[in-house]
Amino acid sequence: FKIAVLVSGSGTNLQSIIDNINNKKLDCTLEAVIGDRDCFGVSRAIEAGIDSYTLNRKVLKTNLCREIDKIVSNKKIDLIILAGFLSIIDEEFVKKWKGKIINIHPSLLPKYGGTGMYGIKVHEAVLKGNESESGCTVHFVDTGVDSGEIIEQIKVPVLENDTAEILQKRVLVQEHILLPKAIEKIIKESKGVCQ
Ligand code: GRF
Repeated sequence: FKIAVLVSGSGTNLQSIIDNINNKKLDCTLEAVIGDRDCFGVSRAIEAGIDSYTLNRKVLKTNLCREIDKIVSNKKIDLIILAGFLSIIDEEFVKKWKGKIINIHPSLLPKYGGTGMYGIKVHEAVLKGNESESGCTVHFVDTGVDSGEIIEQIKVPVLENDTAEILQKRVLVQEHILLPKAIEKIIKESKGVCQ
């Protein structure tokens, strides 16, 4: 089972995938890491000896998704994982890879998702909304933003003195558990194993 991870940021979720493969908790191979900008996520991949690509969307003369498609098609990837990837995946790509692209989002979707809801903004909105709980979600990517079928969620409490930064850190710890769990579920389903 071959996976590719797309990143734009620090890549702590990518690191959790790498660690889970290395300690044999995830039965797959990480064939490619693709960044849409220079970022620490790509540096982590290079450090781990993984095939890495920076497709800087600001200097790229061609369509970003078409370039990603070339890489993942060539490598016959079974699952594409958006782990803090900040570019929008276009419709053509989503349709071609339907059921094979997943995303992690730091809220309990469908709450606090959609255009403009990313990074610290999500946690600020959760606090503003006076929620008593937040969490994280892994879902299939469809042609909307944060709207595809939900695969797994973990709830995280919102505590009284939380700032957005503190809440973000508490949620991120759970993301590192949730993402490998969701990947494992998809791998098992691909092998026809019931859970
Ligand atoms: C995570 O909070 C993820 O849910 C969101 O972007 C952040 C990425 O963090 N989509 P990292 O780059 O994996 O550290």
